[in-house]
Amino acid sequence: MIITSCGNSEAIAKKIATKLKAKYSPLTISSFPDGDIYLKFNTNLKGKKVVIVQSFQPHSDMSLFDIVFAAETAKSLGARKVILVAPYLAYMRQDKRFHEGECISSRVMAKLLNNSIDKLITIDPHIHRYKSLKDIFTIPVTKLTANMLIADYIQKHFKDNIIIGPDWESYQWAETIAKHIHIAATVLKKTRFSSRHVKVKMIKQVPIKDKNVIIVDDIISTGHTIAEATKAARKMGAQSVTAIGVHGLFVENALGKLKKAGVTRIITTNCIEHITNKIDITSLLVQELKKEKR
Ligand code: R5P
Repeated sequence: MIITSCGNSEAIAKKIATKLKAKYSPLTISSFPDGDIYLKFNTNLKGKKVVIVQSFQPHSDMSLFDIVFAAETAKSLGARKVILVAPYLAYMRQDKRFHEGECISSRVMAKLLNNSIDKLITIDPHIHRYKSLKDIFTIPVTKLTANMLIADYIQKHFKDNIIIGPDWESYQWAETIAKHIHIAATVLKKTRFSSRHVKVKMIKQVPIKDKNVIIVDDIISTGHTIAEATKAARKMGAQSVTAIGVHGLFVENALGKLKKAGVTRIITTNCIEHITNKIDITSLLVQELKKEKR
């Protein structure tokens, strides 16, 4: 088995290789003067299983392009199987045509991956209107979850908590985590007016005064969702607000926005490498990849 990366998840790729006692061989990726991609494998792939570890952030478009080029090259160099480990899978939020003429990006992304890789392993993909990843993928797909790692982290580090899901989609994470550690959870109703404008409202009233509120969401992108949920929790008398995201994209000064809204702490998993990473998901991937070594 050869472990490689297109640049976004190198730290995790190296850790996986060490744990699996597999070879880590980085790709050479650069550009020709005109901007065309240049990509090169630096080890013999004949008959090998090649694992590309690459989250789709930063630069989701470039990541997709790099993955497709790397996978096609691996196959043409004789790889037996190409597995993509994408801790964060982008494009999943565009799962329908919200406005006439729009591209359903998740379907296009899946079509490209169906063509070029043999298997996908991902963590907590944003599944909202699809029933499962099988709705768009024809290749074998394994969906892992960081829920239990997040639950353990909360149990170890916080007391007197309540968990809030800032919208219905996030409640699948918030509720499972809360149940596991026997604490209360509630969900807010989110109305999204645009990519950068959301409003939230509490439907099921729960006592928040003097509690340590933990807001759990799958994705923190511009930070608007968590910022609005934080303002609501603060108004209701929360003592502290911790934001936990599986995938911390943090675009457009999201961190500044969250602090301004009154977030006390921001914690993410290392599905996307970021200074807020506190929860390591490598063990989930190692466990799954062990099955490929048999
Ligand atoms: C959407 O439904 C997701 O679960 C997140 O709530 C959303 O992607 C967060 O985006 P932002 O940080 O830009 O509000």
